[in-house]
Amino acid sequence: MTTESERKRANGAERLAVCNQMPPSESHGLRNGLMLIKKSSDIPYSEITPKSVYLNRRKFLAGVTITGAALVAGRGLLDIISPRVTALAGAKLSGVAKSPLSTSEPQTPYNDVTHYNNFYEFGTDKEDPAVKAQNFKTSPWTVSVEGDVAKPQKFDMEAIMKLAPLEERICRHRCVEAWSIVVPWIGYPLSVLLQKVEPTPKAKFVAFESFYDPKQMPMARWAGIPFPYVEGLRLDEAMHPLAILCVGMYGEALPPQDGAPVRLVVPWKYGFKSIKSIVKIKLVEKQPPATWNISAPNEYGFYSNVNPKVDHPRWSQAKERRLGEFLKRPTLPFNGYADQVEKLYAGMDLRKNY
Ligand code: MTE
Repeated sequence: MTTESERKRANGAERLAVCNQMPPSESHGLRNGLMLIKKSSDIPYSEITPKSVYLNRRKFLAGVTITGAALVAGRGLLDIISPRVTALAGAKLSGVAKSPLSTSEPQTPYNDVTHYNNFYEFGTDKEDPAVKAQNFKTSPWTVSVEGDVAKPQKFDMEAIMKLAPLEERICRHRCVEAWSIVVPWIGYPLSVLLQKVEPTPKAKFVAFESFYDPKQMPMARWAGIPFPYVEGLRLDEAMHPLAILCVGMYGEALPPQDGAPVRLVVPWKYGFKSIKSIVKIKLVEKQPPATWNISAPNEYGFYSNVNPKVDHPRWSQAKERRLGEFLKRPTLPFNGYADQVEKLYAGMDLRKNY
């Protein structure tokens, strides 16, 4: 017989229901583990070495004196001396302009935003991604932009970082589980990338796909949702200036648990639309599949605009808990961005198109 807790572990949709809880303590100290040796964003993306790799090298060198290099052979040895993993996570990003579109609300502490995550590829507990994603290989990295476009193109991270001036956009991020954070994301409007490939008149939607590798993400098999994680937006939503292609936060490149090296931020929609670690963007004619929508269509709609008037079947969406705060606060329509985005949905029944 399946116990309640086993059933929850096996069912990702159910899992979301139990995550509306207080954040973990603010005393975690992992931030240092994400800091980098080199600082400037004009260092080529692929040449930046994260502190974890640097520390592993030192650990290795220490190990050599004790056990002898002869014990370590082949590719493993080469990997340690000259690692293929050169994730940028944690590197300072320079020359970032402040966006006039930022909220003036207090930012959620970095430690909460990096230790209370949803990244089911690395486990379903909020604390899992910060631990299990630390060795995630995010370099080299390519994003293929294809489909109904005149100029399909594969962008490496070097190209993505240079496509437009980076800006810091402080946004509210509201999870469907009724918790929220305020994050200083770094990136630029997604429309910049989309315009580069020249969508054809056939393109009506944009489909996004996350990286997936069961070897690097062994926890994914317990998540209860299919992978790779996929999401979608209508083309006009994707072109809206509030939709950001995000490469960093808090002045630094994205840490792995928050979707390194490149993710989406769509602040007027529930957090699950903000797909992490993107490898493919395809412009398409028909509404594309979206992971939570296909997993539990009666609970998670394709649009998923933040809407305090449309409850989740198993909990209210009227209020939310800001991480670090005790009392719940009212949830705002479109997460407080209604004046900028509600015209995208003129004439639509938002109860039906939840
Ligand atoms: N993207 C991928 N690939 N896998 C995921 O599990 N979770 C989503 C979204 N993007 C998710 C994802 C959900 S439910 C939320 S709330 C946000 O990422 C969380 O982003 P954060 O961990 O940076 O706060």
